[in-house]
Amino acid sequence: MIIAIDGPAAAGKGTLARRLAEHFDFAFLDTGRLYRAVGYLVLKAGGDPANETDALRAAKALDPGSLESVDLHTETIADAASQVAAIPAVRQVLLNFQRNFARTPPSGKAGAVLDGRDIGSVVCPDAEVKLFVTARPEIRAARRHKELREKGLESTYAAVLAEIEARDVRDSTRKVSPLIPGDAHTLDTSDETPDAVFDAARAHIECLNW
Ligand code: DC
Repeated sequence: MIIAIDGPAAAGKGTLARRLAEHFDFAFLDTGRLYRAVGYLVLKAGGDPANETDALRAAKALDPGSLESVDLHTETIADAASQVAAIPAVRQVLLNFQRNFARTPPSGKAGAVLDGRDIGSVVCPDAEVKLFVTARPEIRAARRHKELREKGLESTYAAVLAEIEARDVRDSTRKVSPLIPGDAHTLDTSDETPDAVFDAARAHIECLNW
C-alpha cells in the first residue's frame, strides 16, 4: 500500500505526508531529504553540486540513516539538492533506495507514504494513492521564510521567494523526472489550514474505497 505525494517546495507535502503516515500507521520517507543529504555531502567535500562526478560520488557514499542529527533545511543545501537532483545518474542511485523502502517498508509496516517530486510518476507509478500538493509561490515563500526565522536563520522574504521560484523552474523543467502533476489528485493548500488539507486528503483516499 503506497501513498505518493508530490509537489513543489514548501507546499505542505511533508506535513500532510507525516499525518497520513501516522493516521494509517505507515512508514514515511521524505525523499527530498535524500537529495538534500547528497547536496550537503558535496558541499562538505568542497565539490560542485552541478558537477556529475562530485554529485555521483556523494550519492554513492550516502548512508541515509547517518545524517539524522544534521540540519539539512538551509536554503544553501536546498539549492545544492536541486542541482544534484537534475543529474540522471544521481537519481538512479537514489531510485533503488526509494523503491526498496516503498516495497518493503521498515518495521513491518503495511504501507508507506513517500513525498517528493517524482514519486507518482517515476519511483512508484503503481501507487494506490497519488496526491499532488501545491500552493502559490508567494504563500510558499512566506511559509518557508517564517520557518527559517523561527529557527533563527537569517533570510529575507524576497530572497526566499527568488530561491523558491528558481527551484520551481529547475525542478519542473529538468529533462529527467521533472515535477509534473500527472495522474495525481491535486490539493491546493494556499488558503487551507493543515487540518483542512489532511481532511481533504483523507476524504479522497476513503473515496477510493481503499
Ligand atoms: O522537498 P525538498 O525541498 O526537501 O527537496 C529538495 C530538492 O530535492 C528539490 O529541489 C528537488 C529535489 N527532489 C527531487 O528532485 N526529487 C524528489 N523525489 C525529492 C526531491
